[in-house]
Amino acid sequence: MREQLENIKKLASDDIQSSRSDAELDAVRVKYLGKKGLLTGILRGMGQISPEERPVIGALANTVREELEKYIEEKSLFLREKELSEKLENEKLDVTLPAKKKNIGKLHPISLVENRMREIFIGMGFEVVEGPEVESAYNNFDALNAPADHPSRDYTDTFYISTDILLRTQTSPVQIRAMQKKKPPIRIISPGRVYRVDELDSTHSPVFHQLEGLVIDKNINMGDLKGTLALFARAMFGERTKTRFRPHNFPFTEPSAEVDVSCFVCGGKGCRFCKSEGWIEILGAGMVHPNVLSGCGIDPEVYTGFAFGVGLERVALLKYNIDDLRLLYENDIRFLEQF
Ligand code: DAH
Repeated sequence: MREQLENIKKLASDDIQSSRSDAELDAVRVKYLGKKGLLTGILRGMGQISPEERPVIGALANTVREELEKYIEEKSLFLREKELSEKLENEKLDVTLPAKKKNIGKLHPISLVENRMREIFIGMGFEVVEGPEVESAYNNFDALNAPADHPSRDYTDTFYISTDILLRTQTSPVQIRAMQKKKPPIRIISPGRVYRVDELDSTHSPVFHQLEGLVIDKNINMGDLKGTLALFARAMFGERTKTRFRPHNFPFTEPSAEVDVSCFVCGGKGCRFCKSEGWIEILGAGMVHPNVLSGCGIDPEVYTGFAFGVGLERVALLKYNIDDLRLLYENDIRFLEQF
């Protein structure tokens, strides 16, 4: 019996030794120490041995059991530690590997310019309103005091949908809609798309963007217009920017002006960017014509106002030093991701 015990101990030890997982180890435990296990079987047969030998064999059997249990426990611990260190090894991060580049969406330069203008004018108390791109000839021309024979009315300049419906050629008709709908004081800006019959080239596009401004109230004068645009120009192009008004002619304003800003590259000294002028033209403006006010039911004897219109593409080209308008419409990622 002593021999049998020694033999079981040897076999069990070998089995434990060769176990590769907790499951295998468990099978070994059942095989030797389980209810129907080999060692348990030996202990059951104790009745057949002599009473003198019983305590000796019993003690030996218990020692073998304890040793095997301890051995299994140790092996189980060893397997768990091995599993953990293998897991850690496999999950190791190589922080020296180059990172994957994430492509983050960017706003289009025209959106950037529009958003900045919105911010600036909202900061001055303007309200943003939008008008339709399909507009009546009345709002786009007649109500804006355009003479019946004005060349811009021609179908070679304007996209007509019918004789009196067209794609707006300017954002100015939103002025008309605002004045028809609201009593003064009015203080609005209106950004949006406009359309003109033009071939696409480095400076022209049949579709482009403008932002219209309109202020109507009692006692609004040219000084208010100059102050508003000077503040806008400094916010848009830098604190040192100066503005200059040159007489011009628009049907819907009297007096009318074209507005230049001092060159933000050379500061006004004259450089290649401003073609040695020191000044760059950025927008049209003026005092709203009395005919336009009265046509919208606003008494020009009581109210006055100013208006201005600025091209967003023009500002984007200048601000970001882009030399070809077409780049803004081609949507080449290599161009767009620079902004
Ligand atoms: N609508 C003019 C254009 O498309 C721009 C403009 C000039 C708008 C003077 C105005 C203004 O409101 O007062 O060229």
